[in-house]
Amino acid sequence: MAATTNGTGARVLEVTDLDTRFSTPDGEVHAVNSVSFGIDEGESVGVVGESGSGKTQIFLSIMGLLAKNGGASGSVRYRGQEILGLPARELNKIRGVTMSMIFQDPMTSLNPFLRISKQMTEVLVEHKGMTEDQARARGIELLDRVGIPGAKARFDLYPHEFSGGMRQRVMIAMALLCEPDLLIADEPTTALDVTIQAQILELMADLKRDFRTAIIMITHDLGVVAGLCDRVMVMYAGRVVEKGAVRDIYYRPQHPYSLGLLSSMPRLDQAGATQLNTIPGQPPNLQALPEGCAYQDRCPFVFDACRIDEPGLHRIEAGREKACHLEALPDRRAGAPDASSEAASSQTAVQEGQP
Ligand SMILES: Nc1ncnc2c1ncn2[C@@H]1O[C@H](COP(=O)(O)OP(=O)(O)OP(=O)(O)O)[C@@H](O)[C@H]1O
Ligand SMILES: [Mg+2]
Repeated sequence: MAATTNGTGARVLEVTDLDTRFSTPDGEVHAVNSVSFGIDEGESVGVVGESGSGKTQIFLSIMGLLAKNGGASGSVRYRGQEILGLPARELNKIRGVTMSMIFQDPMTSLNPFLRISKQMTEVLVEHKGMTEDQARARGIELLDRVGIPGAKARFDLYPHEFSGGMRQRVMIAMALLCEPDLLIADEPTTALDVTIQAQILELMADLKRDFRTAIIMITHDLGVVAGLCDRVMVMYAGRVVEKGAVRDIYYRPQHPYSLGLLSSMPRLDQAGATQLNTIPGQPPNLQALPEGCAYQDRCPFVFDACRIDEPGLHRIEAGREKACHLEALPDRRAGAPDASSEAASSQTAVQEGQP
């Protein structure tokens, strides 16, 4: 996520200084603030942070799908081409084709008035030049692959004829139709039971391995990030507060908020632990962000500078950046309020205790 590639492949997406604002009767909402990151072919990046931290709006901004009262500025380069602000006609050549998004709300990308078969085959005929028969076969194969039983019989149903979990899977199949080289998945597995969740994650891991698909995984589930992602970006109040390799951040978080998030994860290997640590307090109002650091009122390590200067994201070691005035976090066992439990083991698939 640093400005350079990690050497594994060509850069697929480069986002620089992205700001997203919404105008509301109560004032301007600063939903995304100076967000920069990149992703290479074959890489996967996790995006984590509490509800309302701007995760979804970053990617809706990138896809040109913000609500009408929203606007984005900065730069978004997809394969080197600036796409922020492109007209829909141009964007439609990319989005849903080579750059796909699995939306948090399945009905965002499914047309309720069209049969699933129609929605899937149309895309394949238009963008892949398939015949109707080839497109049907491919659509059914994909529904099967995402775990829809009796895919052939269900192919001609309408979206509302599927249960919520099934619709989620249909949407995942839709996103994979044209074998995108960038897949953005916004909480793709939250509505699914654990067995299906595991299958979907396996499918994503296959895509990454076999087709070098770049995957951005937005999730509350730090276990999912540990299982699938190479790097992670931690969001707080519309800003990136820490980014780096998953292993580094999980074992040695350097931003107090990352530490708080990890401490609020249940650990299967912690005998007798019955209570989760939660981060006290609430995120700030995005219409009136405080002077200085947005995390100051919840941070157990806060000191004077945090209330005056906003800490910028800066490199702290190779491949690792954080936005915090503290030089280094004290040892986690030193007894700070948020630091009482160790960060989770990177292989434990558990649900974060945030909404
Ligand atoms: N159309 C809108 N008008 C005003 N504010 C908006 C609008 N859409 C989103 N927001 C605000 O933008 C902020 C970021 O929202 P976003 O959906 O990105 O959160 P998130 O991190 O994806 O949360 P969650 O984990 O709950 O999905 C929130 O405070 C939200 O209320
Ligand atoms: Mg969201």
